[in-house]
Parts: sequence; C-alpha cells; structure tokens
Amino acid sequence: MFKPFISANWKMNKNLEETVDFIKAFLPLTAGINDVDILIAPPFTSLSAAAGLLKGTNVKLGAQNVFYEEKGAFTGEISPAMLLSAGCTHVILGHSERRQYFHESDEIVNRKLKTARKNGLEVILCVGESLKEREDNKTFEVLDRQLSGSLGDGNLEGVTIAYEPIWAIGTGRTATKEQANEAHTFIRGWLKKHKEGAETVRILYGGSVTPENIASLMSEPEVNGGLVGGASLKPDSFAGIVTGARK
Ligand code: 13P
Repeated sequence: MFKPFISANWKMNKNLEETVDFIKAFLPLTAGINDVDILIAPPFTSLSAAAGLLKGTNVKLGAQNVFYEEKGAFTGEISPAMLLSAGCTHVILGHSERRQYFHESDEIVNRKLKTARKNGLEVILCVGESLKEREDNKTFEVLDRQLSGSLGDGNLEGVTIAYEPIWAIGTGRTATKEQANEAHTFIRGWLKKHKEGAETVRILYGGSVTPENIASLMSEPEVNGGLVGGASLKPDSFAGIVTGARK
C-alpha cells in the first residue's frame, strides 16, 4: 500500500507575509502526522522563507515550475539548483495552466523533467484531459500522449503522477471517485507497460479536492493522494485534507 501524498499547489497566491502566516497556523494542525507525505508549493518569492519555517518538520517544500537549462541568459527563469538552494525537494511540472497559458508542450515538460531529475529534484508530473476531450471519449488517448511525451525515455525514479482533469480544476466539479480511479488505473497500466518501477509510483488526483471529498477519493485503490489548489489556501482546510487522507 502507498503512503498517501497530499500536496498543496498555491498557484499565484500568497505573498511573503501570507505564506509565513499560513505555515505558522498550519504546522500545529498537522504536527506528528507521519503517515501522510505533506508538501506545499508556494510561489518562488516565498520559497526561502517557507523553507526556514518548515525545516525539521513533517512538511516538505516544492516549487510550481523550473526551467530546463542549468544556468545562463534566460531572463525570468529559475534553475533546479536555485530551487534546491531555496530548500525545495520537489517541483510540479506540466500543470494544465502552464500548458494552456504558457504553451508548454510535452517536449518542453520532458526537458524540464530531465533537468529537474538530473539535479535531484523530485517531480510531480501533471496530466489530464479537457471537458471536450472527455466528451469525445479521448481521455485515454490524451493521457497516453501526455505520458509518453512528458516522460520520454526517462525513468520513473523520483516521479509522482498527478491526474488533473481540466474540467475539475477550480470548478467545484470533482471527478467522481470512479472516474478518478478509472483514469488512475489507465495511468498505472501505461506505466507498467512502458517503464520499470511502475509499482512504486504514486498517482495523485487533482481537481476540486476538499476536506469533504478526500476520504472518498482515497478509498479507491489507485488514488494515492491529492494535488490541491483552492482548498490548500487555508490552513484548516488543507489540514482537513491531510487528515482525511489517512488510511
Ligand atoms: P483546485 O483544487 O483549485 O481545483 O486546483 C487543482 C489544481 O490545479 C492543483 O494543481
């Protein structure tokens, strides 16, 4: 059985002060919980301060993006080494918002994944279909394309997959637990068919996860955790999700 993994993705929310306030309120609510892996991914500007507060606790730190080059003339970009020195252990890659608004292709995601892994960052790789693709019965086709393009010839060490159906993100319309499990089962099968070590990869569900629905989602065999946007912005709500994920 997998240890549940609950990650916050704060997206473009919270300044430095708000980050500090969150962490100070959140840590006591989840102190001593060691049967769930907990991660928060604040904006870049809050990483260093967050790392200071999280040091020695049960909460890990991740970033929401990284560039695929190691250093150089790439104005506005952030390298894996910078994230590591800011205290990150993880990075979220391939989020649908980055694919949609910043035109990140599977090829770009793959380059980022390779550089991140080479530098020792663990990766949460996001995949998921749009509503139109689901209605057109193309969910598995999309997942197949995204997994093969984003993972490329890379191995699965240090990789977690997050299934995030776009129609469930920020909409309050959570996938049913059956829909989530069906997609996760497809992803597990894909990984087993194409890669070594698929048995140890955790597959998280993301899309309108709340303290109320996490336990039900986690009751499905292939749902190993959650990637949480809106409901991770308040300490009590995110702590409720962590608690609800305990199996
Ligand atoms: P919401 O939880 O706000 O639907 O966002 C999900 C998400 O995109 C996490 O990466």
